[in-house]
Amino acid sequence: MIRHITIQLLLLTFLFAQNEGENLYASCKFCHGFKAEKMFENRVPALKELPYEVLVLKLKLYKEGKIDEYGYGFIMQQQMKNIPNDKIPLLSQYIKSL
Ligand code: HEC
Repeated sequence: MIRHITIQLLLLTFLFAQNEGENLYASCKFCHGFKAEKMFENRVPALKELPYEVLVLKLKLYKEGKIDEYGYGFIMQQQMKNIPNDKIPLLSQYIKSL
């Protein structure tokens, strides 16, 4: 019985995290694609090519306005304004799950 409940709770937590990741990624789809497969302006590589650690690092640096890799850093800084720092790992995990 207890084990049953634990499993259901785990499943719920997983579904909830998946859902939250989806919401966080919602605004990114337009430029980076539904499956993180899209190259932006034929210059910015598809997000799915990036390892998890690199995603986390880059998103933090964009948020702080510290990187500008393809001349559009300001666009990404704007995008990251609404994403809290502690949600960046979840968002990156979601991108890797696409
Ligand atoms: C309006 C279009 C647009 C939206 C929306 C957008 N991005 Fe971007 N993204 C860009 C551009 C342009 C760059 C290149 C920035 C630069 O010059 O460094 C970029 C770069 C990135 C990179 C680095 C890619 C690399 O290979 O270096 C990541 C990671 C990323 N975006 C994630 C996201 C996430 C996560 C979101 C949603 C919160 C998002 N982007 C929303 C346009 C967008």
